[in-house]
Amino acid sequence: MAKRPTVVHTITALRRAIAAYRKAGDTVALVPTMGALHRGHLALVRAGQQRADRVVVSIFVNPTQFAPHEDFGSYPRTLKSDVAALADIKADLVWAPSAAVMYPQGFATRVAPEGAALAGLEDKFRPHFFGGVATVVAKLFTQVTPDYAMFGQKDYQQLRVVTQMARDLDLPLKVVGMPTVREKDGLALSSRNVYLSELERGHAPVLVRTLKDSATRIKAGEPIEMVLEEGRAKITQAEFALDYLEARHALTLATVAALKSGPIRLLVAAKIGKTRLIDNLAV
Ligand code: PAF
Repeated sequence: MAKRPTVVHTITALRRAIAAYRKAGDTVALVPTMGALHRGHLALVRAGQQRADRVVVSIFVNPTQFAPHEDFGSYPRTLKSDVAALADIKADLVWAPSAAVMYPQGFATRVAPEGAALAGLEDKFRPHFFGGVATVVAKLFTQVTPDYAMFGQKDYQQLRVVTQMARDLDLPLKVVGMPTVREKDGLALSSRNVYLSELERGHAPVLVRTLKDSATRIKAGEPIEMVLEEGRAKITQAEFALDYLEARHALTLATVAALKSGPIRLLVAAKIGKTRLIDNLAV
């Protein structure tokens, strides 16, 4: 049977485990997650194992990045099966704090990211989101003190925000962005895919198909806004309520009007039934 990773729930136990790694001269990679682990998370663990001697996976459904009307209450919580999956791939440590450990009584400090966090993409539809993410990720970084932090590119704006935050706060670690892991039909893996009905699941790959088609046409020199308008129509016809389909500068997330102002990243967010999906692709 695979060796279960050590699971710690307190800062003291976490610090003790990290101190032992450091004493042995080991480097550390952190994979921050909210649990409900899928193959995308496991790919981040494997990528961490290639860079560092030890991999720590944090599992914490962070209340401060959910608005009151969002799915914090129903977000899948599957610690037992998550730990079993991490045992299979030999992750070293699971950091699973409670909300009271992460945000003790009297907690009064927040990180307020700007720049890419105010690009008018996710922030426009989830205004509380990046403040919550930046605050908890800053805490995870100072708690675990990793050499590397592994993030999926699926949450592309989050990756840009966290990379900038680590730089701005002089945090001594490298943020590594890894390619999105997809189903056979192209749908990006997400813990929220479990919410999709069979019918919605059938419609879901229209997002990645539209991204691919738009990227090909923009690369071929077609006018960006025209391509995006047609893509928006396709997504809406497939029963989605579209939040955005945008072409942005891949690093700053500023708007781009022409191919030569790139590198360009296409980003999409749309809701089908009760499930909100996001995806993105390089042009
Ligand atoms: O991407 C996620 O799962 C979360 O936003 C993160 C980075 C773990 C912060 O709660």
